[in-house]
This record gives sequence, structure tokens and C-alpha cells, in this order.
Amino acid sequence: MTERVAHNQWSSRLVFMLASIGSAVGLGNIWKFPYITGEYGGGAFVLVYLVCIALIGIPVMMAEILLGRCARANPVVAFRSLVESKSRVWGGVGLMGVFAGFVILSFYSVVAGWALAYVVDALSGAFDGLDGKRSGALFSSLTGSPQRLLFWHTAFMLLTVAVVARGVRSGLERLVTLLMPLLFVLLALLVGYAMVAGEFARGFHYLFDIDFPRVFLQCSDDGACTFTAKPLLVAMGHAFFTLSLGMGAIMVYGSYMPRGASIAGSTVVIVIADTLVALMAGLAIFPLVFANGLEPGSGPGLVFVSLPIAFGAMPGGQLAGVLFFLLLVFAAWSSSISLMEPGVAWLSGNGGLSRVRATLILGGAAWLLGIGAALSFNLWSGEDYQFFGRTWFDLEDFLASNVLLPLGGLFTALFVGWVARRRSSENELAMRDSRLFGLWHFVIRYVAPAGIVLVFLNAIEVV
Ligand code: TRP
Repeated sequence: MTERVAHNQWSSRLVFMLASIGSAVGLGNIWKFPYITGEYGGGAFVLVYLVCIALIGIPVMMAEILLGRCARANPVVAFRSLVESKSRVWGGVGLMGVFAGFVILSFYSVVAGWALAYVVDALSGAFDGLDGKRSGALFSSLTGSPQRLLFWHTAFMLLTVAVVARGVRSGLERLVTLLMPLLFVLLALLVGYAMVAGEFARGFHYLFDIDFPRVFLQCSDDGACTFTAKPLLVAMGHAFFTLSLGMGAIMVYGSYMPRGASIAGSTVVIVIADTLVALMAGLAIFPLVFANGLEPGSGPGLVFVSLPIAFGAMPGGQLAGVLFFLLLVFAAWSSSISLMEPGVAWLSGNGGLSRVRATLILGGAAWLLGIGAALSFNLWSGEDYQFFGRTWFDLEDFLASNVLLPLGGLFTALFVGWVARRRSSENELAMRDSRLFGLWHFVIRYVAPAGIVLVFLNAIEVV
């Protein structure tokens, strides 16, 4: 008997791609990308993020898909089964991924809960005639209430558990085929609105004008400036986060991928879709931020404060608001499912648990951890509840996004580049152009690992 378990498959390559886009596109694009771009000062940060996507994200995504499909197994087993020694060490990388997904899920569910709460607010007409100040107050009244946050966090976790317990395939296919394209259209409309009603040129320049000193120099009041590598680390971490890389989510999805479907082609489509959504969210949000006198660096509330002002002012804004936050919930849902899937596939495949029980255990534990994330905005926001100088929420995000995911990506690249046989990668990728394969192999062997290590070394003082 091998360790591999019987594996179901997506019904087509299209479904694999839609599911992966569903995993990649989520709160990372619409909530996190704009707010960290604002925190780190715009253009140059966006550029570094895009470079990380191209040089590290694309090759690592191909590596994850190919590992998953080659092994037809969950990440813990995939690593183990592809090394001849059956070494348990590489299984540890899969386990680290399961842990990272679990940590991310716990705070992800809290933020998705904000979106759920905003669906109800939008329905009740709470956005009508909001200005910047009142919109800020609306958001603070939500995050200031532990009861409301816990209620919506619980509701979202239940949604996630309900789909994962049934098996990803049946629930997910329908969800993503219809709703992802709809979200895209609505975002495009919002960009259009920002062109008319916001300070579009200013928002555009903020996102795309490259000003390295503004992002990478930290200046004190007396004018002395020092270089900081923190934006570098955060941009790289976000490249992993937004593409769902570094913890085995895409690997598990790849393991359900039909043979013969092109890995490189699918990767390019997924990455382009994900990047487009993030840039569109930025283009919709920053013009409104500037037009309404909001602070770009105001933190995690940025999207939830800026967009409701637009919905409150535009014709048909109530419907648009409801629809937007509803679609955001769906986007978050199709992502949170993939955060859980590697752990559940492992616990139920090799841990001997039933799928339902594995889902309940993992979801319950993530729910518990998420309570700390919810309280970080109210009861635990003070100094007494700081861990390494961060709130629980920030600590979870930092640890998972900026440490565990890049580490997972580093090991994936090293594994595929140095441990797995070149021949198996070549067969699995089946690229028509052998020079292109050579380029990918070079990048996965040298460029991606060196890039990740360099960023880590530069950013050591940040931790
Ligand atoms: N990529 C998703 C987003 O941008 C979040 C996500 C889903 C994720 N699965 C993941 C992040 C796996 C890291 C790893 O919202």
C-alpha cells in the first residue's frame, strides 16, 4: 500500500482554474493589498510586489501545481512520496503549510465577518449620505464591538466548514463559475465610478509613481533617514498570500487537476486574474480615499471606510453596496475553503479521521484562535495584550504571511529545483518550448530561492 489515497478530480481544466482563481482572489486583493499599499507609501511598494509576483510567484505556483499533480496527494504526503528516501523531513514542510493555513484562516474569518456585517449595513441603508468621518465611525462601531465581531466571525467559519465538510468539489464549482466573473464586473464599475467621482489621477499616481525614498527611507523628526527593509518583506509576503502560495493550497488543488492540462498556461491565467483584481481594487479605492480626505495609511479599515462613502452617494448605491459586500464574502469564502483543504485532506486521508470530523476539528480550532484576532480591535487592543509589539491579529498576519508562507515557498522551490528529478518536472510541465522549461528550471533552482533568502536576510531586524 502506498500512502497515497484515492483522489477525486476536477471535471475539467477550466474548473481547476476557476477554483484556483477563487482561492487566489479574496480579501488579499480587495482588503489587504490596498491597505498595505497605503501603509507603505504607494508606487514603489506596488512595484516590488509585482516583481515578487513575476520572479517568485509564477515559478513557485508552477512548482506547487506540478508537485500536487505528480504525487496526487495532499501536501504532507506529496513531499514525502516524491523523495526516494521517503524522508519524513520534507513532510514537515507540508505540515508547516497546514499550520500556516490554519493561522491565516483564523484571522481571515474575522475580516470576512466584517464584510458579512457590511452586507447587512448596506441593506439597512446605513451608507446613505456618509462622509469620511461618519464612515470611519460606522467602521469603528463594528470593530469596537466584541459581540458583533464574534457573531460574524462565527457565521463565516460555519459557512467555510459547511463547504469543506462536504468535499470541495461539489460546493465550489458552482460558486466560482458564476460569482467570480460578477465580482470582476462590479469592480470594473467601481473603477468607472472612481474616475467620475474621485480624484482618479491622484489615486493612479499614488499607485504607480515610483518613489523609492518614500517607501524605503524612515526619517525621524530631525531629518535623519535610514533604510528599512520592512516594505520588502511585506511585499514579498503579500505576493505569496495573494496567490495562495507557500502552504499547499494550490498544491492540493493541483492534485485534483486532470492530467494533460497545461500547468504553465493555467498559472499565467490565474496570476493575471489575481493581479488585475488587486490593481482594480486599488484604482477604485485610492481616488475615493483622496477625494474624501481619508488617510491612505489608516490601516485595515481602508476599504471598509472608503467604499461605503461611494455607495452612499451614487445612484443605485444601496443595491451596489449590498452586491459588492456580498460578492466580497463569496470571494473570501472560496479562499477560506482552500485555506482549510490541505489540512483536511491530510487529516482525513492519512490521519484516519472522517472528512466531517477533520473539518470540525480544524475549523473549531481556527475559530478559537480567531477570537484573539477579533478582540485585537477592542478588548485586547491595548499595550497589555501586545505580543512582540503587535496585537494578536497583527502577530498572526505577520507570522503567517511574512514568515511561514515565504519559508514554505522557499522549501517548495528547493525541493523541486534540487531534490525532485528534473525529468519528472519536465514530463509534468510538458512545455512545448524546451528553452522555456530551462528558464523556469533555472529560476526555481536559483533565482526564487536566492530572492526569498535575500529578502529574509535584509529584513531580520524587522522581527
Ligand atoms: N489568496 C487569498 C486572498 O488573497 C487568501 C488565501 C487563500 C491564501 N488560500 C491561501 C493565502 C493559501 C495563503 C495561502 O485572499
